Amino acid sequence: MWIQFVCVHTGILGCDLQTAICDVMSPAMSKLTTPSMTTSVMAAAAGGHRAGGSTARVRFGNHDWSEFIDTTDEWITSRTGIQERRFAADDEATVDLAAHAAETALADAGLEAADIDEIIVATDTPEAYTPDTASFLQHRLGCREVPAYDLGGSGCAGFVQALDVARARMMLEPKRVLVVGVELISRLMSWEDRSFCVLFGDAAGAVVLGPEGGQAEILDVVAGTDGSKTDILTLKTGGTRHPFNEESLASGAYHRLDMDGRRVFREAVHRMSGAITDVLKRVDRSVSDVSLVIPHQANKRIIDAVRNQLGVTEDRLYVNVHDYGNTGSATVPFALWEAKETGRITEGDLVALTAFGAGFHWAAAAVQF
Ligand code: COA
Repeated sequence: MWIQFVCVHTGILGCDLQTAICDVMSPAMSKLTTPSMTTSVMAAAAGGHRAGGSTARVRFGNHDWSEFIDTTDEWITSRTGIQERRFAADDEATVDLAAHAAETALADAGLEAADIDEIIVATDTPEAYTPDTASFLQHRLGCREVPAYDLGGSGCAGFVQALDVARARMMLEPKRVLVVGVELISRLMSWEDRSFCVLFGDAAGAVVLGPEGGQAEILDVVAGTDGSKTDILTLKTGGTRHPFNEESLASGAYHRLDMDGRRVFREAVHRMSGAITDVLKRVDRSVSDVSLVIPHQANKRIIDAVRNQLGVTEDRLYVNVHDYGNTGSATVPFALWEAKETGRITEGDLVALTAFGAGFHWAAAAVQF
């Protein structure tokens, strides 16, 4: 028992470890491997039309970008499928979007902040360098002194990875876990790097996981990492290898993300389709059983390639990247909520979530509504 406990705390993302832990757990404990879930999200949407009121937010179309940088609507649309994105207002930061998403998720679940037993925030664009966004969020929401921590730096895969972590935590103890994916990439990116800035937007999404009584069950989650590919998507400056200094400030390197777009593209397609295949195999289901695939919304061409690899028809794939761009770890919970709100998900549906991100990380979840 002691070894199981240590493993969970030191190797929390390893799906093989989780499998090993599941294997030795008692039948009573394994009942907790299917936590229920209630979803709710908030996008940085103009007029706060998503999930209730919020302060004014900035809609930014492709034509707006073409006034800033050397780009065109035609280039952005044909290479990415993105037509518009939303940016947070100047007076907002990460915890503002996260809190709104979390409050709406709590209301949707019929819960109060005091009911939450643990908080995980997936973000690469935190409220502060330290402490983590989850600490700010815990206080903002008025939660009890429960564990709260970030899953940071894992790029756009963060939210689905966080579901995996939450699920593993719930295997040990029945608890209610708030999982948030939030990103204010507009604060981090260079507004002059045309090959990068046109891809992104700001948003937040949240789900509440509990042992019973939710809208859906998480049947299983898989996650993986290939650390030999840290170079294909990275923001180096600010870490201990490349600390902030006058030179990085003067050159703007502190917000320069290095991305090998073509390699990221290839890896994304390969890993997301592989992760969905793996998770379905683990729950003894096939792609034909899936009512809706919700992939990370980075690029319509990536999504189409995943669809082709899986052999899924267009009507069984959720796409909203044209409206919001890539909102990092918020894309999956946001798309999940939007799909639910617009009737694309109904009771009895099997939904497959998948994401990839800097690391190189990937993850997928099978969710039964
Ligand atoms: N407007 C106009 N031209 C642009 C541009 C823009 N916004 N951004 C780049 N270009 C130019 C490039 O400079 C290049 O010009 P050159 O041929 O004269 O050198 C040309 O367009 C082609 O660039 P290329 O990189 O070949 O385009 P692509 O078809 O590979 O598309 C991405 C680029 C970034 C859209 C694509 O590689 C991609 O989506 N990759 C995955 C990125 C991703 O998802 N990142 C997030 C991970 S979570």
